Amino acid sequence: MITQVQALILAAGKSTRLNTGKSKLLEPICGQPMIMYPIRLLEALQIPITMVVGYQKEEVMLAVQDAAAFPVQFVTQEEQRGTGHAIMCTRDVWQKSTILIINGDTPLITQQIIKDLVHKHVQTDAAITFITAHYADVARSGYGRVCVSEQGGIEIVEARNFTGDSEAPCCINAGIYLVKKTFLDAYIDTLIPNGLTKEIYFTDLVKIASDNGYGVSTLSVPFDSIRGINTFQELWATEQIQRADLMKQWMDRGVRFSMPQQVHIDLGVHIGAGTVIKGGVHLTGNTIIGSNCTIAEFNSLHNVSVGDNTTIHSHCIIADSQIQDNVHVGPFAHVRTNSLIQNNSVIGNFVEVKNSTIGAHTKAKHLSYVGDAHIGSKVNIGAGTITCNYDGAQKHATIIEDNVFIGSNNTLVAPLTIHKNSFTAAGSTITKNVPEYSLAFGRARQVTKEGYMRSQGDTQRMVTDALSEGNDGQNSSGQSFIGATKTHIDTSTVYLD
Ligand code: UD1
Ligand code: CA
Repeated sequence: MITQVQALILAAGKSTRLNTGKSKLLEPICGQPMIMYPIRLLEALQIPITMVVGYQKEEVMLAVQDAAAFPVQFVTQEEQRGTGHAIMCTRDVWQKSTILIINGDTPLITQQIIKDLVHKHVQTDAAITFITAHYADVARSGYGRVCVSEQGGIEIVEARNFTGDSEAPCCINAGIYLVKKTFLDAYIDTLIPNGLTKEIYFTDLVKIASDNGYGVSTLSVPFDSIRGINTFQELWATEQIQRADLMKQWMDRGVRFSMPQQVHIDLGVHIGAGTVIKGGVHLTGNTIIGSNCTIAEFNSLHNVSVGDNTTIHSHCIIADSQIQDNVHVGPFAHVRTNSLIQNNSVIGNFVEVKNSTIGAHTKAKHLSYVGDAHIGSKVNIGAGTITCNYDGAQKHATIIEDNVFIGSNNTLVAPLTIHKNSFTAAGSTITKNVPEYSLAFGRARQVTKEGYMRSQGDTQRMVTDALSEGNDGQNSSGQSFIGATKTHIDTSTVYLD
C-alpha cells in the first residue's frame, strides 16, 4: 500500500512564534535541522517527497538539497495564507492515490506511526485519516482540538478559534494526515479563509469530509512522538526527549553517563562500550568515541574521532580532528583543524594543536602552540614551546622527527625541520634546520656578575629589612619586596656593563 503514497511536507510558514526572524525549520535538534527529521523518515519508508517552501525558501531548500538522500521536489507558496492554502499550491504534483501530509515542525514521528496510519486508513477506507494525541496542557498550547461538530460529526477547532471550556480534556490534532486524492481533488477548493485569522486551514477539510458523509478516521499516539514546535520552549522540550532517547540507546550499549541530564549528544555521535561520559560534555557533529575512554567534565568534541582507552581530561575543545588509542588530552587543551594525535601520546594543559600530527608516544604536556607541524614519535615538546607558523602573510610547516627533545620555552620559527635524535636547549629560538643527533642552542648566554649585588647598598638593605621582619620578603599588600627592589636596579647597567 505504501507504494500508493506520496508525501507533502509543509515548510513554508513564517515561524513567527519563534521570534528570531528565521525559519524554525532550520533550527537544529540534536545537530540535525528540524526539517530533516520528516525527510529522513520518509526516505526510510521510500515515500516520494514534495515540500512546500515559501518563507526563506532558498535557505530551506539549500539545507534540504545538501542533506537529502533522494531528490526532493519543491513547490513554492508565494504568500503564506495557511496550511490549507499550502496544500492548494501542490495540486499539480498530486499523482498517487493517497497523499500523506506532514507539518514540517513535528520531528519526533516514527516510521511505525506512519505505517500504523497507513494501515488504519486502508482498513477503514476513510477519506481522511489523521493522528491525534492526548495532551494535558491543551489550554496553554496552540494545538487544534478534535471536537464533535454541531452536526454531530468530527471537526478540528484551532486554538485561536476555540470558545469552549479551554481546560476541558480533549484530543489534539498532530498535523499528520492521509487523504484520498479523489477527495482532495473534489474538495480542496471548498476551503475558505477563516473569519477570525483570514488563514485557510487545512484542518477544515475534516469537518467538510464528515459533513459530506465521507469516512474520517483517527489514530491516537503518544503525545511525545508528535510534539509540534512553534516556540523555543517547545523546541527545548522536544530536543530533551530526542537527546534522552539517544542517551538511553548508548546506555544500553554499555556507555556510562555520570550526569546524563548535563550531557548533549547529537544524532551523528557514536560511543563505544565501557566509555564514561561525565557532566557538561558536548559531543556534536559526527563525533565517534571508541571503547573504554573517559571524557571528563566540560569537554566539547565536534567532528572528532577518538580511539580506545583514551582520556580527555576536563575543559578541552576539540574539533575536526582524530585522536587515537591510549592518549591523554587536557585539561584545558585545544585541538583543532585536521589534527591527528597518535597512539600513547600526551597533550597536556594549555596546549593548542592546529592542523598538526603528533606522533606516537610524543608528549607536549604544558603551555604550547603546535600549528602546521608534523611531529614524529617519542618527541618531547618542552613547556612553553611555540611553533611560529605564520609570517604575517603565509603559514609555514614545522617538522620534528622521531626522538627529538625540544627544551622548554622554545620558539621554533617555520619553515623548519629538526631532524631525528637531536636536542634543542631550553629557551632557544630555533630558526635554522637542525641535523640529526645535534644539540642546538639559540639563546643568549647567561652572564653572571659575581659580587655585583654588594655594590647595590640600598637594595641589599631593603631585602635584609624585609627578611628581619619575619615576613619572608612579603609586605602587607602581599607584594614581593625582592621583586619590588629589582625595579631599582638599572638593567642597562647590568647588561651593558
Ligand atoms: C497546525 C494545525 C493544528 C495542529 C498543529 C499540530 C492547521 C490550521 N492547524 O497548527 O490543528 O494541532 O499544526 O502541530 O493546520 N505552513 C505552510 N504555509 C502556511 C502556514 C504554515 O507551509 O501558510 C507550514 C509551517 O511551516 C509548518 C506547518 O505548515 O511547518 C504547520 O504550520 P503552523 O503554523 O506551525 O501550524 P500550527 O498553528 O502549529
Ligand atoms: Ca506548528
